[in-house]
Amino acid sequence: MTDDTYDYLFKIVLVGDSGVGKSNLLSRFTKGEFYEDTKSTIGVEFAVKSLKIESKVIKAQIWDTAGQERYRAITSAYYRSAVGAMLVYDISKKETFDNIERWLTELRQHTDSNVTLMLVGNKLDLKHLREVNEDRAKSYAEENGLHLVETSAKDNMAVEYAFQKLVTEIYCDVVNKYHLEADSSGNQSDSAIPHSEPVSDIRAAQNSNAANNQSCAC
Ligand code: GTP
Ligand code: MG
Repeated sequence: MTDDTYDYLFKIVLVGDSGVGKSNLLSRFTKGEFYEDTKSTIGVEFAVKSLKIESKVIKAQIWDTAGQERYRAITSAYYRSAVGAMLVYDISKKETFDNIERWLTELRQHTDSNVTLMLVGNKLDLKHLREVNEDRAKSYAEENGLHLVETSAKDNMAVEYAFQKLVTEIYCDVVNKYHLEADSSGNQSDSAIPHSEPVSDIRAAQNSNAANNQSCAC
């Protein structure tokens, strides 16, 4: 699938403490690569990958920045027009899980309230060193309206699944939201259209779904 033709563009940001594996999740997902020794990210990087949901091509533009405060780019620019986020911790380091609360607060301060969030417990290959109980993480996720996925960028466990699930959720939120708004007002509202969305594509999807009475996979 080429990167230049798509129906929707979703900006997704990765956040979490330094060393939890954000950059490796990104390189695993977009390039199929893992690096044993990576340096802390400096500034901001992003990579793209296209996915297919129903018959739509979704271009996921995934942004990665440093967990370390001193290397982080200006926060508001990083979060601007994000429609999804992964909050990443390391299952073998409790402190990184404890800090999720901070990342969640920052995310909520800087993003639209509709942003779709996912909690990701990375380094599942280090299960024998586990410090964060999966059930505890699950309860925390439920309390905060998030989904939890445990991954290993190293062993390529559930990385594709996590991104696919997040993108699908964003897609469903977007499509359903426009249907609801159009149904209740009789008009289509621009207010809820995320900035990264090509407006015409949303309308096209909405109109064609309404016209065909297609059932959404969501
Ligand atoms: P910052 O850029 O400083 O915020 O860190 P980061 O979250 O991007 O972490 P990064 O991807 O650079 O990974 C940090 C270290 O953890 C590297 O040595 C990686 O090789 C290692 N690492 C990343 N993912 C995994 C994983 O799934 N399992 C294991 N065992 N190590 C991992
Ligand atoms: Mg990094």
